[in-house]
Amino acid sequence: MNVLDRLETTLRVRGGYALSGSVQTHGAKNAALPIMAAALLSKTPVTLHRIPRITDVSVMWQLLESLGARLRTEGPGTVTIDASGVSTHRAPYTLVRKLAASFDLAGPLLGRFGAAEVPLPGGCVLGTRATDLHEQAFRALGADVSNAHGYLIAKTSGARLHGSDIEFRQPSVGATKNALLASVLAAGTTTLRNVAMEPEVVDLANFLNAMGAKVAGHGGDTIVIEGVAELHGVEYEIIPDRIVTGTLLLAACATRGDVTVERCAPAHLAVTMAKLAECGAKVTSGKDWLRVEADRITGGTDILTAPHPGFPTDLQPPMLGFLCTAPGTSVVEETIFNARFSYVNELARMGADVRVAIDNNTALIKGGTPLSGAPVEAPDIRAGAALVVAGLAAQGETEIIGLEYVDRGYERLEEMLSALGGQVQRASGVLPVDEPLGTFETTAYPKVV
Ligand code: EPU
Repeated sequence: MNVLDRLETTLRVRGGYALSGSVQTHGAKNAALPIMAAALLSKTPVTLHRIPRITDVSVMWQLLESLGARLRTEGPGTVTIDASGVSTHRAPYTLVRKLAASFDLAGPLLGRFGAAEVPLPGGCVLGTRATDLHEQAFRALGADVSNAHGYLIAKTSGARLHGSDIEFRQPSVGATKNALLASVLAAGTTTLRNVAMEPEVVDLANFLNAMGAKVAGHGGDTIVIEGVAELHGVEYEIIPDRIVTGTLLLAACATRGDVTVERCAPAHLAVTMAKLAECGAKVTSGKDWLRVEADRITGGTDILTAPHPGFPTDLQPPMLGFLCTAPGTSVVEETIFNARFSYVNELARMGADVRVAIDNNTALIKGGTPLSGAPVEAPDIRAGAALVVAGLAAQGETEIIGLEYVDRGYERLEEMLSALGGQVQRASGVLPVDEPLGTFETTAYPKVV
């Protein structure tokens, strides 16, 4: 059975136990996916370390294989991608529909072949997934862009794309990545203004430079790319996942625990940690670790999601899960996606007092009301994480249906939490086996009674 087939997987959480101890985070999903796509730009093999063993990576693996690339694992988290045999620039809808991030393929396909045909992402449970900024960049680089039969079709009439000066109306992680990916092999200089500054964008630029690209300014709001004629294979380690790190530390706060996350990047979580400190947690850090001692949570806080370095939208749900346990009133405002509060109804079934404003962008949380375990359903990855955080703090048992969403972005979350003393068990459905990442074969998991 393949995990890509929809199968409901559940997680059972017995709440009320303070998490304590140390755990390592894994490589960042949102850096690994575009970097795997970027391997298409090299005709010699690329070896990537710290690739997370998550189902989104499996989909990207299968997508690259479907284009003609050869992938193999070289040990846990290490993947070699040989894209020398890729000869098509059209990505198949059957796989793309499972992964919004597969739109990351458009840039490298266009850069390498001068043409790309990639299914449009449409919408998802988080809201609209618009592509106008991606299209703006491709057009400016010299491609004709059209939409036909659900596909974005981009094609250059000349031999190569050409450099351009592009100003985005708002920072977009995906459009910045695609513009970078398309322009590294373009003729001349490209300047990208008002770009996303997320660590995953910076990691992609660092990877491209390691392959021989000439990218400067990443991490700031303007990126300058000098096009080069070709890129070469390289060995590269993906950055740590800041959202997984943040989720584990929020679980520590919700359970009033004491948790250290190792092999993480503290600088990527500065704003989130400042918010936890505001709630009364003691936050300490070293070069590659973060510790949260949360025995004295004194109150909630107000959150406004924003592009990096602001509070990350992907931590909004687990943060809200924690804020339900913090005394006092908190306000959470979502500014990145237009439908990211659907999981709040599930939290309400656990006794949380959360009201979402009519505009669907602001939630008012009256924290500190006791949560009680309940059967709930996760609608997406981070919403699943919110329910796990709340379940760990609730009295009794919470059964979370939809663990397969959580598996898209967290490498066996239940094992990380169990290592910290959490009473968490994958209870039914499927268990992802480790290797090979590409097929991500799963075994039926015995139902726990
Ligand atoms: N947008 C446009 N036009 C565009 C592109 C985006 O209007 O051409 C809008 C989107 O509709 C959305 C907002 O801008 O409302 C943000 O989109 P952005 O392009 O920044 O996000 P993304 O590339 O689609 C990545 C992550 C998301 C993360 C966001 C914001 C990946 C694979 N995905 O999405 O991660 O929430 O950036 O930081 O990198 C997750 O990991 O669970 C996840 C959803």
